[in-house]
Amino acid sequence: MSHSSAWITLEETYYAQTVRRQPVVLVRGQGCRVWDADGKEYLDLVAGWAVNNLGHCHPVVTHAIAEQADTLVQTSNQFYTTPQLLLAQLLVEHSCLQRVFFGNSGAEANEGALKLARKYGRQQRGGAYEVITAYNSFHGRTMATLAATGQPHYQEAFVPLQPGFVHVPYNNVEAIMQTTTDKTVAVMLEPVQGEGGVNIPDDDYLQRVRAWCDAQGLLLILDEIQTGMGRLGSLFGYQEYGVEPDVMTLAKGLGYGVPIGAFLAKEACMALAPGDHGSTFGGNALTTAAAYAGTKYLIEHDIPAHVKRMEQHLLAHLRVLQERFAFVTGVRGKGLLAAMEFDGDLASRVLTHANAAGVLLNAVRPNTVRFMPPLTITAEEIDEAVNRLEVALTHIE
Ligand SMILES: Cc1ncc(COP(=O)(O)O)c(C=O)c1O
Repeated sequence: MSHSSAWITLEETYYAQTVRRQPVVLVRGQGCRVWDADGKEYLDLVAGWAVNNLGHCHPVVTHAIAEQADTLVQTSNQFYTTPQLLLAQLLVEHSCLQRVFFGNSGAEANEGALKLARKYGRQQRGGAYEVITAYNSFHGRTMATLAATGQPHYQEAFVPLQPGFVHVPYNNVEAIMQTTTDKTVAVMLEPVQGEGGVNIPDDDYLQRVRAWCDAQGLLLILDEIQTGMGRLGSLFGYQEYGVEPDVMTLAKGLGYGVPIGAFLAKEACMALAPGDHGSTFGGNALTTAAAYAGTKYLIEHDIPAHVKRMEQHLLAHLRVLQERFAFVTGVRGKGLLAAMEFDGDLASRVLTHANAAGVLLNAVRPNTVRFMPPLTITAEEIDEAVNRLEVALTHIE
């Protein structure tokens, strides 16, 4: 029995069976590569679900973690801590928002943003509370973010859902206009839908939504949990589309591997006051030290510009595979968030062969695989990953 299968048996015996895992037990990572319990090496194009933006164990991040672990890990937010404030300052100075709150995950970041919208509606819009979100969106797994998520298959087992959400087709401004009522307080969107299948809107979609929100006095909340921190080729996705959100949520890539989330708001929209919101671990010295070190590096080394260059490289190579394999029906992407679509539900078979060939991917839809590598991936590593994917695809023909 391999080392990996022993671990898989342990998981089957003890772990809550809520996740359909790939039969790969990862024990080590460095840059864009990871190794399993049997010593096999893989190129990691999942990157902890678009989290490891500087790759695995980047020295800047590991040093920050080690140093902070040796200094101060957790206090309560009753007291000030310094890494939290340095990170808040860095995010504000490089974004269009002025106030930051740190939590521990994406869902928590969105929960905070939704609470802010509730209070804003109460104070500024006569008790309006409804939030318009899009079909195929993904905003998290907590009760409010599940209700916000526009994918019924995630929701069905958990009804009744929290009220206050209406869903409209993505990339359709008219649908938002028709759905707006005097109960509406906010529109919440991903700049590119990630988990919904890498759905890229028209260039002017967010600008038109912004104009509608301005005309109606609605908050525009952008969920940048997947698109932020360089993923689309700008530090924040909204910069790609020439708009400014009133509220933005971050998580995933903000932590470079450590669990952290944040919501940011314009000063005029920051309706939350002392006592309205809090978190025991949120903004913890350890996680914010890692996030600060990683974000400083990301900005100082202009990793988003590298992402733009690698976008062309990755998409060009994936399109070559599309020409070679008739069952590949589409390739799309923005920055280093890309997808390959098939003419049938082949994604799980592709993953099996990709694992064997040494490249890790995500099956984002039954007929679509998603690519979200570390943002530091090199052209040579992309070439190598695409070669391995090509080997995998030859098994599907
Ligand atoms: C756009 C978006 N929002 C929210 C979330 C939820 O984040 P978390 O899993 O950290 O709660 C995700 C996770 O995939 C996401 O992609």
